Amino acid sequence: MTLAQFGQYPAARFAIAHISDTHLLADGARQFGAIDTEPHLRRALELLGDLEQPPQAIIVSGDVADRGEVNAYRVAKQLVETAAGRLGARVFWTIGNHDDRRAYSSVLFGEESEAPQDRVHELDGLRIISLDTTLPGHHHGELEPGQRAWLKEVLSAPARHGTLLVMHHPPLAMALDRVSHVIELDGQAALADVLRGSDVRAILSGHLHYPIYSTFAGIPVFTASATCSTMVLAGPERSYGVHDSGQAIAMLHLFDAGAGGMPEAPVTHTVLPLAQAPLVIAHRFAEFAALEQMTHAQRRELLSRHRDRDATDDDGRVHAWLDDAAAAPGAGGTQA
Ligand SMILES: [Fe+2]
Ligand SMILES: [Fe+2]
Repeated sequence: MTLAQFGQYPAARFAIAHISDTHLLADGARQFGAIDTEPHLRRALELLGDLEQPPQAIIVSGDVADRGEVNAYRVAKQLVETAAGRLGARVFWTIGNHDDRRAYSSVLFGEESEAPQDRVHELDGLRIISLDTTLPGHHHGELEPGQRAWLKEVLSAPARHGTLLVMHHPPLAMALDRVSHVIELDGQAALADVLRGSDVRAILSGHLHYPIYSTFAGIPVFTASATCSTMVLAGPERSYGVHDSGQAIAMLHLFDAGAGGMPEAPVTHTVLPLAQAPLVIAHRFAEFAALEQMTHAQRRELLSRHRDRDATDDDGRVHAWLDDAAAAPGAGGTQA
């Protein structure tokens, strides 16, 4: 079914799931002895099966395995690739500081290697670069001069739909979290010199276990939450506390230039929380199909015009709204 355009923007050309910091452990072990990370990843993948525009790719931005264990990579590969197979999506991995190059490369790529895990992929004209920012044996990140030269060479010719740069350590300042500056990416100014003026449309990162956004050399930087656990940023436990809540993934959308009537090509990064809280309102989704058949003016009338602000019966109001939608001229009734 082709979806109607409800506003100024058409559907994105690329819908890409961004998952980070799964921190899986072998044999059912728990992160910090308490957090069961595998069900959190399962829940994240489950969410991807229920999106209006399914993802064309799943990007995992590092710290796949908490202790770099071979069996943890096997579980990650099986879970993520099975979900991707169902969605018809590709999978792109990037390494993090908790990962082990040898185990990561042998299980995920079938080539055992201690070398930096830099890779270039292509997804229907979009270039995706996995950049290895790790320094084995440490939690902070750095790039070897050879990696910057390699990146410069890769970026020397633009890709048809531009480039996504995936790097575990985010190139930005953690304003609420000075402790994480100790484990940041070194040499950021030298990296900015490589990226400035290139076709990189977005940088996807992880590492921090909370979402934070910035720009770097004029490029948007999107740091995903972790699926394993979340850092505490306020209160007495800030910067050294971790809680088993607040986990999320994100959907990255890349639109073509001209979308919304502007020359720029918009990029968005939308957070999808893993939390399963009780629903306060549950619309009958099929009834929204009526919206597809309406004119823009009819949709505006139904959804934009203020309606009965004094109503206290929210549920009744919503259902009256849905009945109106079904009965609206040109609605064509509801569809299953
Ligand atoms: Fe991590
Ligand atoms: Fe990390």
